[in-house]
Amino acid sequence: MKVNGKSFRTIWDEDGKVKIIDQRNLPHEFIIENLNTVDDCVRAIKEMHVRGAGLIGGTAGYGMYFAAQEASDIQEYEKLGKLLIATRPTATNLKWAVDRSIKEVLKDFDNRVPISLIIAKDIVDEDAEFCRMIGEHGAKIIEKISNEKNGEPVNILTHCNAGWLAFVDYGSATAPIYNAFDKGIKVHVWVDETRPRNQGARLTAWELGQHGVPYTIIADNVGGHLMQHSQVDIVIVGTDRTTYTGDVANKVGTYLKALAAKDNNIPFYVALPSSTFDWEIEDGIKQIPIEQRDGDEVHFAHGLYDDKIIDIRLTPLGSNAANFGFDVTPRRLITGLITERGICKASKEGVSELYPEMM
Ligand code: MRU
Repeated sequence: MKVNGKSFRTIWDEDGKVKIIDQRNLPHEFIIENLNTVDDCVRAIKEMHVRGAGLIGGTAGYGMYFAAQEASDIQEYEKLGKLLIATRPTATNLKWAVDRSIKEVLKDFDNRVPISLIIAKDIVDEDAEFCRMIGEHGAKIIEKISNEKNGEPVNILTHCNAGWLAFVDYGSATAPIYNAFDKGIKVHVWVDETRPRNQGARLTAWELGQHGVPYTIIADNVGGHLMQHSQVDIVIVGTDRTTYTGDVANKVGTYLKALAAKDNNIPFYVALPSSTFDWEIEDGIKQIPIEQRDGDEVHFAHGLYDDKIIDIRLTPLGSNAANFGFDVTPRRLITGLITERGICKASKEGVSELYPEMM
């Protein structure tokens, strides 16, 4: 996608050097950072220089390339993989990428460095391509709504950032929006601010703006009101882990949007590449681990003041804060899953129609 007219991916390698966009101070500062070691990748994921399902997976892929350079035996190499997996417990792309790399490398450990570089490149290229295909499939839903509205703008609500910044390119939830917009379909996006880290207000808003897509940022609790007043035609969100039965873990607050959408008869779609499916877990609410983050993310707001990036305290000194990163939306509230292979029902049957080889 483009930043000030120049094409970027969120992670790439140039002559063996791995580069990322540090997302912590976006949209106020655009900083490119080098990753040189497993530790760099661990820190970048943990401290959210990089974030979002696909990009975490891509970073883990390159993390395993560094692991191949740093480890002298298989035990050490696998230990570094575990270190990467432990950085963010909910996002399943992390384990998927580490396992994919380990599986190939163990076939020929002596050639681990070139093999893991090829795998890392494959992971990021595939992520970008799958998101592009999600865009093709999802745009058809937007186009249908646009036709029903006689070309009036389609109002799409999204939560958090499942945009290109959360992947390698295109995004999952945003890919159908970019695709429809590029085809000349009129769209307008309601962007949930997404407390506490404000990925919607900071990141989704910025990337939509860079692409010229009209959007409006709203406080997290506004969506229900808009839905009651026919201001939302469709909700599209991303996911950090989706069970093969169709339960969806996504940024905390997604469940409440799904409830409000159901109550107002508004289609609620989840967009994901197949790397985000968890093929082992059946019950999302009981079995998906929910990451709990530092309470300081709730206590403080991070932003620009007087040309400087600062944190300001919002809460009473000494107050407690709980910071659950994700929630699970049960499949019964989801209209459909938009994947690289097409759109399916959020159910075991629906998913197995698209991915029979995984069942
Ligand atoms: O905590 P984050 O920013 O890594 O959360 C991930 C997300 O961006 C969202 O949950 C997103 O909607 C799904 S990731 C494509």
